[in-house]
Amino acid sequence: MEKLQHLLTLKDLSQEQLLGLLELAKQVKANPSEFSQALAGKSIVTLYEKPSLRTRVTFDIGIAKLGGHTVYLDQNNGALGKRESVADFAKNISCWADGIVARTFSHKTVEELAEHGRVPVVNSLSDMYHPCQGLADFLALSEQFDDLSNVKLAYIGDGNNVTHSLMFAAAITGAEMVVICPEGCFPDGKVVLEAQALAAHYGGSLELSTDPKAAQNADAVYADTWISMGDDVSYEDIKDKFAPYQVNQQMMDSLEIGYFMHCQPAHIGQEVTQEVFDGDKSLVLQQAENRMHAQNAVLITLLA
Ligand code: CP
Ligand code: NVA
Repeated sequence: MEKLQHLLTLKDLSQEQLLGLLELAKQVKANPSEFSQALAGKSIVTLYEKPSLRTRVTFDIGIAKLGGHTVYLDQNNGALGKRESVADFAKNISCWADGIVARTFSHKTVEELAEHGRVPVVNSLSDMYHPCQGLADFLALSEQFDDLSNVKLAYIGDGNNVTHSLMFAAAITGAEMVVICPEGCFPDGKVVLEAQALAAHYGGSLELSTDPKAAQNADAVYADTWISMGDDVSYEDIKDKFAPYQVNQQMMDSLEIGYFMHCQPAHIGQEVTQEVFDGDKSLVLQQAENRMHAQNAVLITLLA
């Protein structure tokens, strides 16, 4: 298997690499003590241009559980690329740290960190992708379904960074995926074509629809915020357009959907109702827990 250098987008993974990461994540989850020294002596800079709960805590605690150490950098010491260039920043961090985990506004910034640094870079959310989320979500799905290639996943709402990573994960595992969005809110056209090509290669499928009924019989329906960090729109302006795309109990029942998924943070009463979010078909806390295990599998693969 080709050695992974960075994790900037799931598109870069072969099926063998992606399934290998999920398998390693399951081992880390089941037998944490076996991996308690996997990153001993390693220091990782975690860098944030945007707020975070799950990502910050799962990387901090996850890296500690592997025997490594994190240095948290937010924008209080100067915005990335302002006080010095992203290239210089990456070169300097590479003198001291063994890896960089970065949450940035622009995907170009994580690409520049990888290009100019000398250590592995993990994208912990950019405007284009959220690969760690996609891995954790497919780990959760693989805990419910033995064969991911038989899974039908429906994503409903705004086509965004999370959608893109789910599309690649579904395509590479050979799953069936439908992305359901209001007109004008579909995922990036180039990413759709890339994911459809991968889906065709691996025996899966990716379809787009404006009709919520396209989620009929999905094994899981996935929702995310209608307004992502960095989006310049107001809720008032979009709420009527998105209202038919809310995941509620009526949708779950009438379309005979198996599970509900959400990356969180959730906006209750907007993209999902409290009843569904807290319901017995909700995988949201399993997804959140799996962030740590999936990321630890990535870090072990890149750094150990
Ligand atoms: N899902 C996720 O990335 O959550 P945070 O923004 O809280 O890190
Ligand atoms: N699409 C969301 C995901 C948050 C984890 C955002 O980018 O804000």
